[in-house]
Amino acid sequence: MEPRTITLHDCQFSTYMYEEEIIARIHMLAEQLEQDYAGKNPLFLAVLNGSFMFTADLMKRINMPCEISFIRMSSYQDMQSTGNVREVLGLTENIEGRDVVVIEDIVDTGHTVNALLQQLNEKQPASIEIITLLMKPECLQHQLDVKYVAKSIPNDFVVGYGLDYNGLGRNLRDIYKIVS
Ligand code: IMP
Repeated sequence: MEPRTITLHDCQFSTYMYEEEIIARIHMLAEQLEQDYAGKNPLFLAVLNGSFMFTADLMKRINMPCEISFIRMSSYQDMQSTGNVREVLGLTENIEGRDVVVIEDIVDTGHTVNALLQQLNEKQPASIEIITLLMKPECLQHQLDVKYVAKSIPNDFVVGYGLDYNGLGRNLRDIYKIVS
């Protein structure tokens, strides 16, 4: 297929992963989840905004009793310390004793998922795993065990299928990578 190029704000992006490949990979992950969580009624926690499209396509392919809820991570600069402080927002479910699966769009440095896991683990779930659409292993700065990964990619900025560049690109059905 001829690559398509698009412009978002001041940057050009070119097609990188087509919808067909994304859906094929989601099918495989859904089958794996069905096997791993058979008889368990897992609670899926989708991290907004980036995971909305991935979550919808994944959940449509999971044929077992399960629950789905949505959370966000706040991100603000802590004046006292050097790093960003990230806090889980919008968690209304009691996750104690539950089998939790966190749905992410992309794991880059891993700061977000690391903070999320620390906070969720304090609430004593029976188990907790991460599923992510994309992962950039070269960028990872934490020891994270991400069990379910649709695709590992190099350290390139990508948009589409839920992922944005300064607010644009979330609605694209394919994933694009930055070219300039
Ligand atoms: P981390 O905390 O560095 O792992 O970053 C995770 C968050 O950064 C993701 O949930 C995305 O919102 C954003 N992010 C990281 N890499 C990209 C990218 O290539 N495109 C769009 N957003 C990204």
